[in-house]
Amino acid sequence: MHLHRYEKWWLTFGVGSLVVFLVVIGVGAFHQGHQPPSSVKTINYEQVDKTAPFDEPGLKKVSGQDWDYELVVVASAFYYAPVEAEIPVGSKVKIIATTKDVVHGFEVAGTNINMMLEPGYISEYVTTLDKTGEFLVLCNEYCGTGHHTMKSMLKVVE
Ligand code: CUA
Repeated sequence: MHLHRYEKWWLTFGVGSLVVFLVVIGVGAFHQGHQPPSSVKTINYEQVDKTAPFDEPGLKKVSGQDWDYELVVVASAFYYAPVEAEIPVGSKVKIIATTKDVVHGFEVAGTNINMMLEPGYISEYVTTLDKTGEFLVLCNEYCGTGHHTMKSMLKVVE
């Protein structure tokens, strides 16, 4: 087949555009985090109850860190451990959470705390609790028949 010079040019241009397009799609997918970044902490989700710090869920005062408290949370169908936590207002707290089974959410209504908990991964979030009140913790990832009953309470007190 004989190709005219301009047809060759358009063919080259077309293939080139396709390559650029695929690279952009690839880079875009990477930046949206379709694969977990390598720095994310992992855990064997079947061993959560035996793995520190998840063997002792709850609030702990810590020292020598940038935060004052650590709130260790274990989610499973269809509840959170602990069921309730009470934290002094103004505290900087690091929430460290994971799930024992399926994907759950950890959203604290009325705050900026909103995490997705995935089996095999540890989710962490550091925040300062500067409003007093009782904040409902909700699961915002559909996780099964008990999804809508899955909740706990964060009390921020004087
Ligand atoms: Cu857990 Cu929805």
